[in-house]
Amino acid sequence: MREKTPFLHRPYGGYHLRDVPDADPELTRVGPGTPGGEFLRRFWHPVAHGADLKDVPIAIRILGEDLVVFRDGRGKVGLLGRHCSHRGTSLEYAKIEGCGIRCCYHGWLYDVDGRILETPAEPEDSNYRNKLFHPAYPVHEYNGLVFAYMGPPESQPAFPILDTFELPGYVLGPGEPLGIANVKPCNWLQIIDNVVDPVHEAFLHARISGVQFLDEDGRPVEELKDVGEFDFVETPLGLLCQETRRVKASVWVRSIEYIYPNIAQIPMTPIFPPRYPEGKDELCYISFITRWRVPIDDENTVEFAFVRLRPGQENTYITNPGPVVRNNYGGRPYDERQRFPGDYEAQIGQRAVARHGLEHLAATDRGVILMRRMVREGIRAVARGESPRHGLHHHQGVVRTYGNDTLLRVPPANTKEDDREVLRAIQGKVAARALAEPPSLREDIRVYAR
Ligand code: FES
Ligand SMILES: [Fe+2]
Repeated sequence: MREKTPFLHRPYGGYHLRDVPDADPELTRVGPGTPGGEFLRRFWHPVAHGADLKDVPIAIRILGEDLVVFRDGRGKVGLLGRHCSHRGTSLEYAKIEGCGIRCCYHGWLYDVDGRILETPAEPEDSNYRNKLFHPAYPVHEYNGLVFAYMGPPESQPAFPILDTFELPGYVLGPGEPLGIANVKPCNWLQIIDNVVDPVHEAFLHARISGVQFLDEDGRPVEELKDVGEFDFVETPLGLLCQETRRVKASVWVRSIEYIYPNIAQIPMTPIFPPRYPEGKDELCYISFITRWRVPIDDENTVEFAFVRLRPGQENTYITNPGPVVRNNYGGRPYDERQRFPGDYEAQIGQRAVARHGLEHLAATDRGVILMRRMVREGIRAVARGESPRHGLHHHQGVVRTYGNDTLLRVPPANTKEDDREVLRAIQGKVAARALAEPPSLREDIRVYAR
């Protein structure tokens, strides 16, 4: 357990609080053999876009391991250790063959599963190729993303299909704006801290940098400035992080879903006033985007995402992203980043690896506390040889998820205090309903695309 955060209780006291403690090694380290790294290796993670696999292998780094990913002449995808088993040349310089890849240096040929098919310079009777394997990981290509499982083979879970992936009437599109992989120079956990922190929306995305959320019609959602009520509800997969606001004669309950350990499902912002269907006082939207944060190493993380679209619908999320999405990327001019910071700046600004030993967690950080507790429990379960309590590795078949965005026509109560009570009660009911009847099972759900 971490030591108690020093509490500076005098003005001009910088001298008394200069030491920067180490990062929490259990929660933040991802490399092979670390407790956190072994835990993360129990899950499938996206590692590449299938469309990027062309005529040369791609060098990638995932969970602190240097790898290459490629598609061979048969169309099979391979994920291999980067350095050749012969004398270590990087296989990013290998030639792609009909079957596997051939190292550029002395021509050893590797199949996608790590079998050594040829060692052409060796004598005829060399039997290296019959007994030696090159490091390889299983992959699964799904809707344009290449997923990998990098854990112990005997613990490999089924590839999880979320209900939001196969929603009737919708297809999955890529969720990387402008087609650029979003690499953030920071530890994965502080990006997840952001997922379970609905309160930052009213500040970072509404008051500090202007209103960064746009609705389906492209209008800034001023309503986001209100902090509203918030709550955190445990689900079989993780947490629902709820934020509930009064918008004139409607109540807006936004439930961002954290799926353990590194996935978020996020609803988009609705149009106000809500366009309730004829004769209805309620609208339920399913999460629009599913996003993974995959550790490259302790200090770098890459994001992958799917968005839901109607067949043939333009993916404006990537062709014309709104400010909140643009400001989740690096590469903007420094002056602009300082004046209009986004999630990117907030997250990487916490240091490459945030120092929990210097934090002062407050009432609004309940989601952060719960999420870190879940992750720590999972890390310790794996260290004991058990499997984590939450998460997708338990599931076979389609996995029900719970994220949603609900609008209800409810007139304001007489006083502000009474209305807060109303909001809290509705928030609880919306969570209970989502748990009892996951939104994907409802007939009246919608998805919107912005
Ligand atoms: S280093 Fe790869 S074949 Fe020799
Ligand atoms: Fe954010």
